[in-house]
Amino acid sequence: MEHLSSRPEADPREGYNVRDRFAWFEIDAMWRQQDAVLEVLNVNGTEPRMVSIPEIDREFIVLPGVFSPEFPDARLLARAVGQEIVKGERVLDLGTGCGIQGIMAAKKGARVLATDISPKAVKCAQMNTRRYGVKNFMEVREGDLFDGLDGKRFDAIIFNPPFRPFRPRCEDERASLDEDYATLRRFFAEARDHLNEDGRIISVFSNSGDLQYFESLVDASGYQRGIITSVVGSYTYNAYRLTVPKGAEGRPA
Ligand SMILES: C[S@@+](CC[C@H](N)C(=O)[O-])C[C@H]1O[C@@H](n2cnc3c(N)ncnc32)[C@H](O)[C@@H]1O
Repeated sequence: MEHLSSRPEADPREGYNVRDRFAWFEIDAMWRQQDAVLEVLNVNGTEPRMVSIPEIDREFIVLPGVFSPEFPDARLLARAVGQEIVKGERVLDLGTGCGIQGIMAAKKGARVLATDISPKAVKCAQMNTRRYGVKNFMEVREGDLFDGLDGKRFDAIIFNPPFRPFRPRCEDERASLDEDYATLRRFFAEARDHLNEDGRIISVFSNSGDLQYFESLVDASGYQRGIITSVVGSYTYNAYRLTVPKGAEGRPA
């Protein structure tokens, strides 16, 4: 019988199996956290809410079923975007949700393309771009990751991905669940083809999901990792700057 420690480390780009990574009670705990997230997603709601984010001094319209900017990852990433983006940059905000990250970038003077797979999120982000008067600097459209963006390159790609590797129980839950991290792997396989020279990814991840896997996937995909800012509470959240090392050609390693 093969001894576990003698097995070569699996390549994180090849696949993911939550049962190889977590004990049943940890998986159970993650599902319970997810149930709490589902409550906030308000999938059966009918009324929009106003959600204020004091640390960036802004408030956003949030439609039922759209990821709320009150979650710590969204708030941390918004602060990182505020620090990182400079005037005149071309920015892609992937999975825009209510539009918080793209709006932060547009307010810094960037030209933003924001996309989301959820039509509700697209509608919600469009409402917020009007509210913040950035409609002419931020286009919002429906899209599945980089589909339809052939040949388009950006100075920065912002992505707050779903953290937990489970199958969504409804469409809206795609905001926080990504079965076996298939979307995350696709993101890292394709992102480099959409970055300008010196372009970077600004992303966030947490140990409320598989943080070690995220970091190993980033490394295996050939990006250099830097932490812009973190928050440590019941969970750790890191906002990352991911760059392509100079001289690295073509697709990720
Ligand atoms: C964690 S939420 C982040 C929302 C927003 N960027 C923020 O920081 O509050 C992830 C978002 O990605 C979207 N999403 C999930 N899978 C996607 C895909 N394949 N293509 C585009 N958007 C996707 C979800 O609908 C959701 O709005």
